[in-house]
Amino acid sequence: MRTLTFLGVIVGLFSSLFYFLDSHLEKFYILEPTQLHELSKNAIAEHGNDTAAVVKYIWIFNNAGGAMGAMYIIHASITEYLIIFGTAVGTEGHTGRHTADDYFHIIRGTQLAYAPGTYTPEVYPQGSVHHLRRGDVKQYKMNDACFALEYARGWIPPMLFFGYVDTFTSTLDFPTLWRTTWVTAREMVGNLARMKL
Ligand SMILES: *[C@@H]1O[C@H](CO)[C@@H](O)[C@H](O)[C@H]1NC(C)=O
Repeated sequence: MRTLTFLGVIVGLFSSLFYFLDSHLEKFYILEPTQLHELSKNAIAEHGNDTAAVVKYIWIFNNAGGAMGAMYIIHASITEYLIIFGTAVGTEGHTGRHTADDYFHIIRGTQLAYAPGTYTPEVYPQGSVHHLRRGDVKQYKMNDACFALEYARGWIPPMLFFGYVDTFTSTLDFPTLWRTTWVTAREMVGNLARMKL
């Protein structure tokens, strides 16, 4: 009985803490979607389809994280991450249902998206932003080379599991998983040490 009461108190404390933090998430953010959109548009205006130069332009405005293949982690904390994500050959998949708002700034190519219940694709060309709201889910497709500056804000750790599941069930790319985990963890812990949630 005592154990149950104790558990109840713990659960109560944690859910209050969670609700408190969840309703104050805004306070932890250091990046702004509107500024990132400006940054992407300026980078494209400057370097067009020279995507390497566009990425470098964006990169120097931020602290460097770790680079790996087609994904560069620019910033990662418990409540935000900023990465360059993309493919040179096209891809399609499921966005997953996430615990964060996702802003996909297209710096090259076009992304198509489709939400259940609609009948025409959403089209996101170079220079536009695809905002996937927290909790929403869509199917997406990039026909050719497509790269984006992806910014997510909300609760980031649960989103990482989506990437893990993908590795275990389809890509089996464990070296990349390991590097992603290492760089993300290093960034998150580094930010926590600076009192950045
Ligand atoms: C990039 O390439 C696409 C297709 O090749 C073209 O439509 C677009 O205008 C180019 N963008 C810039 C900024 O040069």
